[in-house]
Amino acid sequence: MLIPFYNPEKSYEENFRQGPFGAFADEVVDHGIYGGNSSVVSEFDFLGFKVNSPFGIPAGPLINGKFVKGALDKGFDIVTYKTVRSDKYPSHSWPNISSVKIDGDLTIEKAQGKLIGNDDYHQPLSITNSFGVPSSEPKFWQKDLSEVVKYAKSGQIVIGAFQGTKKDGQSVEEYINDYRITAGLLKDTGVKVIEVNLSCPNEGTNNLLCYDTERSVKVAEAIKEVIGEIPLIVKIGYFSDTEALRDFVKKIGNIVQGISAINTIATEVVDENGNQALPGEGRLRSGVCGHAIKWAGIEMTERLKKLREEFIYNFIIIGVGGVCTPEDFFEYRNAGADIVMSATGAMWNSYLAKEVKEKLR
Ligand SMILES: Cc1cc2nc3c(=O)[nH]c(=O)nc-3n(C[C@H](O)[C@H](O)[C@H](O)COP(=O)(O)O)c2cc1C
Repeated sequence: MLIPFYNPEKSYEENFRQGPFGAFADEVVDHGIYGGNSSVVSEFDFLGFKVNSPFGIPAGPLINGKFVKGALDKGFDIVTYKTVRSDKYPSHSWPNISSVKIDGDLTIEKAQGKLIGNDDYHQPLSITNSFGVPSSEPKFWQKDLSEVVKYAKSGQIVIGAFQGTKKDGQSVEEYINDYRITAGLLKDTGVKVIEVNLSCPNEGTNNLLCYDTERSVKVAEAIKEVIGEIPLIVKIGYFSDTEALRDFVKKIGNIVQGISAINTIATEVVDENGNQALPGEGRLRSGVCGHAIKWAGIEMTERLKKLREEFIYNFIIIGVGGVCTPEDFFEYRNAGADIVMSATGAMWNSYLAKEVKEKLR
């Protein structure tokens, strides 16, 4: 295992100030084949933009512009600047990440039980993370993001991701308005593609926003009013309910330009002594990502592809979850993903894009 570009042994703030780590910090620019200054033309399409490869990093681990630059330098061609908010928002306290012990897949049934978390990071890698989606203030992230948007080389693109913030005493209209405000702030950075995280808490319930189709549609429409022609991607979680996914795709699939699936799968994680692995209120259950959820990302990709055919829509599918090797990348492409992204796998292997691109040739 290589040195991860985000160091789980440090706090979020330390990572923010000192990171990235490992090869992302060496400032060696190596786009891999097709990359950057090479004379080979970029041959993959991403929402109307030509990219060197249909591979990248989803929202989360690239916590500021320095991390995004590290990823671009190492040949990740579609990279997402971490999910931002309309205002400064703190991170949960350290620790935020632990490895999880699991045999095989984290099925929905297994996710009803408990997993053991520890610091034994090994292949096949599955981890849990809990940050609470922190954000710097817009003044900081707008400048930081606009700089890396310009830093991207030919055939590379940076996505700006965001989510709404739930507040005490807020009305639904105020909650939706928060999306409008942040979408406008993102648009001002010059970002060419915007992603909204719908796998986040919904106002007035404890459920994820993406499980509330009506509200998700309202949010997507409100954002599109603000961003106009800029392509919009929605990031969603795993749907156990087939009909709910069908209804969601039917109603939102002609408003948005891309659907990214999946986010993490939540489960209880305890240490070897049975204590909460990531201590703190509301964190007994935390999101699992990496190898153990690959099955769910692949399955969602297949289901989204069928639904896209059924409704004759043309949104693109971004397959996420458990991509740790070039073989995983091809598995997603064969399942129907137009674009594939890796968070956990890329964190522990800064050369994953290069390896994927060598096989793509
Ligand atoms: C350290 C870390 C932070 C994350 N933060 C976010 C986030 O802020 N917003 C988001 O939409 N997803 C976030 N995610 C979820 C990832 O984008 C991705 O959906 C999930 O990890 C599954 O992919 P993987 O198995 O390749 O890690 C985060 C993941 C990791 C590992």
